[in-house]
Amino acid sequence: MLEKLRNKRLVFVGDSVGRNQWESLLCMLASVVPEKLEEDSVSESIYEVNGNPITKHRGFLAFKFKDYNCTVEYYRAPFLVYQGRPPSGAPAEVRMSLRLDVLDWTSRGWRGADVLIFNSGHWWNYEKTIKVGCYFQEGEEIKMDMSVEDAYRRSIETLMGWIHREVNMNKTQVYFRTYAPVHFRAGDWRTGGTCHLEKLPDLTSSSNSSDYRYKVPLDVLAAHSNESVVTKLSILNVTPSAAKRKDGHASLYYLEPGAGPAAINRQDCSHWCLPGVPDSWNELLYALVLKREAARQMGPSEFSQAPI
Ligand SMILES: *[C@@H]1O[C@H](CO)[C@@H](O)[C@H](O)[C@H]1NC(C)=O
Ligand SMILES: *[C@@H]1O[C@H](CO)[C@@H](O)[C@H](O)[C@H]1NC(C)=O
Ligand SMILES: *[C@@H]1O[C@H](CO)[C@@H](O)[C@H](O)[C@H]1NC(C)=O
Ligand SMILES: *[C@@H]1O[C@H](CO)[C@@H](O)[C@H](O)[C@H]1NC(C)=O
Repeated sequence: MLEKLRNKRLVFVGDSVGRNQWESLLCMLASVVPEKLEEDSVSESIYEVNGNPITKHRGFLAFKFKDYNCTVEYYRAPFLVYQGRPPSGAPAEVRMSLRLDVLDWTSRGWRGADVLIFNSGHWWNYEKTIKVGCYFQEGEEIKMDMSVEDAYRRSIETLMGWIHREVNMNKTQVYFRTYAPVHFRAGDWRTGGTCHLEKLPDLTSSSNSSDYRYKVPLDVLAAHSNESVVTKLSILNVTPSAAKRKDGHASLYYLEPGAGPAAINRQDCSHWCLPGVPDSWNELLYALVLKREAARQMGPSEFSQAPI
């Protein structure tokens, strides 16, 4: 994969589960580079381009693999669209807004990537939006009654428009990684939901395929499937397989070395241990990259017929 990425930029855009996948890919690629990735991110052959450590809340991190002149980058954009101050004159309960028609401010950095992997969904819920006074906006108008699901749909449509306008599909491979289900039992992350001591996958459990966080991106793609942009955007569908892995989460072990384990009523059943489940997403990603390359060699006409 490093050979395929020579002189290229691979860019993850999305929420912290996207960062989880980015970290997984860094570890997998670093494992074949003789000099290992150091804990403080300082290494001669693999390094963060701005010298930053991997921390949770940094909006942009890019590791360079020097011998391959490639970067593996992460842009934090949990909603994909722009979150900011509401327009003047908005109702008092509107403390923030999500501009459904404008992409996140980091989108300038996504441009020119050779491989783009988007994900979204975890932040598109009532608790992270309307409940905290973050309403939805289009143009200058706040949509007080718009549902989270409709807003999510609009955000994905905006992403599709951006891909259409800004991405040279001859150069760039674009993927959308689907929602990775969480596994809180008897609660959520604030109310003592648990996945601690889950040691086995549950092969009988399946994803809720009517969950809008899974469905919306697929619906939007289907609605645009007559447009050439979509024939070249691939879905990396991890939802059904990830749904079976209640045993794969960090649970109490998400704090930095020496600081854990966390309190029993503060478990992380959203993010995944590494090595672990996101590694297999990256193996799938690599398979799709190889498939894309094979399709490209077949020529543009067969290529545009290839299913997404
Ligand atoms: C390194 O890769 C970048 C693209 O990411 C390219 O513009 C540049 O020319 C490459 N440098 C060399 C020395 O090949
Ligand atoms: C992409 O490739 C096709 C076929 O080779 C060509 O007709 C088209 O102009 C290219 N588009 C861009 C934006 O380079
Ligand atoms: C699946 O999701 C739908 C829509 O969010 C919801 O109405 C339904 O109760 C869920 N089903 C299960 C089994 O969780
Ligand atoms: C694709 O279909 C949509 C909705 O039916 C339409 O608005 C759009 O113009 C079509 N695009 C192309 C390229 O035909």
